[in-house]
Amino acid sequence: MSLWNRHKIFEKNSIILIVGILVVIAIGGLVEITPLFYLKSTIEVVDGVRPYTPLELAGRNIYVREGCYLCHSQMIRPLRDEVERYGHYSLAAESMYDHPFQWGSKRTGPDLARVGGKYSDDWHVTHLINPRSIVPQSVMPGYPSLAKTEIDPSDIAAHLRTSRAVGVPYTDEQIANAAADLKAQTDPDSPGSDAFQKRYPKALVRNFDGKAGNPTELDALIAYLQMLGTLVDFKLYNEKANLR
Ligand code: HEC
Repeated sequence: MSLWNRHKIFEKNSIILIVGILVVIAIGGLVEITPLFYLKSTIEVVDGVRPYTPLELAGRNIYVREGCYLCHSQMIRPLRDEVERYGHYSLAAESMYDHPFQWGSKRTGPDLARVGGKYSDDWHVTHLINPRSIVPQSVMPGYPSLAKTEIDPSDIAAHLRTSRAVGVPYTDEQIANAAADLKAQTDPDSPGSDAFQKRYPKALVRNFDGKAGNPTELDALIAYLQMLGTLVDFKLYNEKANLR
């Protein structure tokens, strides 16, 4: 029997054909997927990328809860018009601690991957409470309740621990101090502020919503928006890339 004739075995018996198809697809899948677990270049480590602070993480949870991703992507593609409008294209490493990531392709509003530092905190306060007071044609909903709702710090340590379970390298110290750090980030004069800054170097420490008292959901969301896309120093990154 020639090899060609043996193919009849598959053609005549659908069960054997299905098993054959599954075996071939499995081999193809393994060939594609296995190297990704071993290649060093799969996950590029980039200087400056760090896990979110507790306050930023709380803000990110609000971003996801409110469905901001339904109108905003967080991924600048390497296309000229995008790079000219939004800044350096997004690196995979910049969202390596995102669970789930917020890349998206739906842009009713602008991409937010590098919105950090683009506007003042005051601008965000006004815009998030009532977008039309700044952009009269805006279709973005207002979120006035964020300013009135204090963050409950009691579950933030559990959020850090859960993130660690899926690979974010939070230390025991960061988890133990999560609730205190959440507060310290909105108050530069508080006793915990120095320890916070040691745990999260270069994190912004200030009163984001402009109001005294416990951190609100608005504080958290603005802390998150103001750090988006700011962790990597692209001047250094490009210099290093030229050396590679
Ligand atoms: C219905 C769609 C929609 C939703 C939902 C939405 N936005 Fe927007 N957003 C827009 C549009 C449109 C604009 C552009 C006009 C403006 O500035 O208001 C915008 C602008 C922005 C800007 C300014 C971006 C820039 O570069 O100028 C920020 C920041 C922002 N949104 C944050 C948020 C956050 C945070 C949430 C969730 C709490 C959210 N948006 C939810 C539609 C939306």
